[in-house]
Amino acid sequence: MERKKVTLPHLREMKMRGEKIAMVTAYDYPTALLADRAGMDMLLVGDSLAMVVLGYEGTVPVTMEEMLHHTKAVMRARPAAFVVADLPFLSYQVGREEAIRNAGRFLKEGGADAVKLEGGGAMVPIVRAVVEAGIPVMGHLGLTPQTASLLGGFRVQGKGAEAAERIMADAKALEEAGAFSLVLECVPSALAAEITAQLKIPVIGIGAGPHCDGQVLVFHDLVGLFDRFLPKFVKRYANLSEEIVAALSQYCQEVRTGVFPGEEHSFK
Ligand code: KIV
Repeated sequence: MERKKVTLPHLREMKMRGEKIAMVTAYDYPTALLADRAGMDMLLVGDSLAMVVLGYEGTVPVTMEEMLHHTKAVMRARPAAFVVADLPFLSYQVGREEAIRNAGRFLKEGGADAVKLEGGGAMVPIVRAVVEAGIPVMGHLGLTPQTASLLGGFRVQGKGAEAAERIMADAKALEEAGAFSLVLECVPSALAAEITAQLKIPVIGIGAGPHCDGQVLVFHDLVGLFDRFLPKFVKRYANLSEEIVAALSQYCQEVRTGVFPGEEHSFK
């Protein structure tokens, strides 16, 4: 049976009912089809694709055109899940007008349901402007990979009282600015629990403990397709790299020994 499209009111109701929201990244047509078939509530065309698909060292180099290209591929799977696309670095920080124009492209050309952007503070008026232009925005606080070097690297955020208060204040400001949801990355579980309790919008955690309204993981980490490094917060549910290498090695060997193609793969 075809699933009903997940909408913003549906996500808000899930929070009110205490139902956990499952989200995963998807970067192309097959991963979107698989994640949607698995019953995912939300898909994220994350800028993590810079690393796990395009082979960059970090997320900073990925461009608008690359992100749009992947968003379009995801949307061709016509997912029932609610699809959020990441705004890449420097596509929204420079000014409200540019942020609205770039965010709009993800809906207009990419077909996404919403966009996500990183940061609080100076990003709050940008979020407000994009939302006022009619584009749903998801916030992202804690470890924000696009500005990881400013944060001293990929490390847990919000550890001291002052840092925790800043993240809490940013979370409330983003909600007030109209963000429909928030990703909290790499913050202590107790802080994430407090933010989740104080906000009305769904809070989706990654490395933020079990008390958030939902969880998100990077597809390639979850299924074991990316092994350059494995953050502590990732649970690996499969080891596809191993299975794929085994299949490819067997194919190599069968081609070399003439086992493949057999009669059954040949035309008479
Ligand atoms: O790009 C991404 O995959 C993300 C998640 C880590 C939330 O932003």
